[in-house]
Amino acid sequence: MSRLRLGVIGAGAWGRNHVRTAAGLAEAELAAVCDTDAQVRERLVRQYPTAYVTADVADLLGRVDAVVIASPAATHTRFALQCVEAGKPCLVEKPFALSMRDAEAVARVAAERRVPVLAGHLLIFHPAVERLRALVQGGELGRIYYLYGLRVNLGQVRADENALWSFGPHDVSVALYLLGEAPVRVAAHGKSYLQPKVEDVVFLTMEFGSGVLAHVQLSWLDPHKERKLTVVGATKMVVFDDMEAREKLRIYDKGVERPPDYGSYGEALSVREGDIFIPKIPNVEPLAAEVSHFIRVARGTESPRASAEDGVRVVRVLEAATRSLTTGGAPVQL
Ligand SMILES: NC(=O)c1ccc[n+]([C@@H]2O[C@H](COP(=O)([O-])OP(=O)(O)OC[C@H]3O[C@@H](n4cnc5c(N)ncnc54)[C@H](O)[C@@H]3O)[C@@H](O)[C@H]2O)c1
Repeated sequence: MSRLRLGVIGAGAWGRNHVRTAAGLAEAELAAVCDTDAQVRERLVRQYPTAYVTADVADLLGRVDAVVIASPAATHTRFALQCVEAGKPCLVEKPFALSMRDAEAVARVAAERRVPVLAGHLLIFHPAVERLRALVQGGELGRIYYLYGLRVNLGQVRADENALWSFGPHDVSVALYLLGEAPVRVAAHGKSYLQPKVEDVVFLTMEFGSGVLAHVQLSWLDPHKERKLTVVGATKMVVFDDMEAREKLRIYDKGVERPPDYGSYGEALSVREGDIFIPKIPNVEPLAAEVSHFIRVARGTESPRASAEDGVRVVRVLEAATRSLTTGGAPVQL
C-alpha cells in the first residue's frame, strides 16, 4: 500500500510535534507543511528537505491526502471547511472550534460530504487514559461518585484563548470519554489577571445525569506543573498522574462501606484501606497513536475515535462554561 501523503498546517510550538511525528511514521510521508511565518518555513526547509513548504493552504491541499490542522484556534474552522471542501480528511487540533456554531458547521459539512474530520482529543490516546476507561466502564471501581482534574503550570500565556479553551478540551474530552455521557449542567469561575478578558485561571464544574460530579482546575499562572486526574468510585479510587515518568496510574483499593444491616446511620460506615496497585502501562506516545489512528481513518480502515461530533460535544461544554464564566459562575443547563 502506498504511503499516505500527510500535510500539516501550522508548525509552531505544538504543530512542530505533528510535523516530527508525520515525518517519522512508516505508513505516511510528510508531504507538505503550511505556515505563514517565514522563519518557521526556513527552519522546515532545512529540517525536512523532502517536504513541500508553503504559506498557502490551497497550495498544500493540492499535494496531500490528509491534513493535520495545528494553526491557532481562530483558524481551525476555516481550514477544516477548506479541507472538507477539497475532500481531504483532517484532524483538527484542540479546541475543535471556538463556538458551537462553527463546530456544528464543520460537523455538518463533513457528514454531508462524507469526509472524515477528527477532533484532536489527544488524551484519549494516552494508554493510561485507555486503562482508566476500561476500569470505569468495566465496573472495577464500582459506581463512580466524582472525579477531579488539575491542569496547571506557568505559561504559555495565550492571547486568543483563555485557560478554559486552551486546557479545558483535554479534561472535558477525557471526562466524557471515561464516563460515556455528557454533562447536564456546568458552572465555571475564573479571573483574568494578566490580560483583560482572558481568564488565566478557571475552575470548572460539570454535573452528569448519572450523578457524577466532575471538577477541573485550569491555569497557566501557577507555580506547579500538575497534570493529574483522580477518579473516586464506590469500591476503588484511581489517580492518573501524567507528571510521573513511569507509575502514571495508581489504583487504590479503598472505600467506605455500609454493612447491609445498618440502615443509614453514619456511625455504621466503615473505612476500608486496601492495597495500592500500580499497573504497567505501555510506553506509547499519545501523539503517535493519534496520528496513526488518523491515517487509518483517512484510509477508511477505522472509524474515528474522536469524531467531529465528539468535537461538538466538547465545544458545547466549553461554550456553556463560558456563559457561566460571564455570569459569575451561575450554573448553565445543557
Ligand atoms: N493537543 C495538545 O496537547 C496541544 C498542545 C499545545 C497546543 N495545541 C493546539 O495547537 C494549536 C497551535 O498551538 P501552538 O502552541 O503551536 O501555537 P503557535 O502560535 O506556537 O503556532 C501556530 C503556528 O501557526 C502558524 N500560523 C498562524 N496562522 C496561520 C495561517 N493562517 N496559516 C498557516 N499557518 C499559520 C504560525 O505562524 C505558527 O507557526 C492550538 O490550537 C493549540 O491549542 C494542542
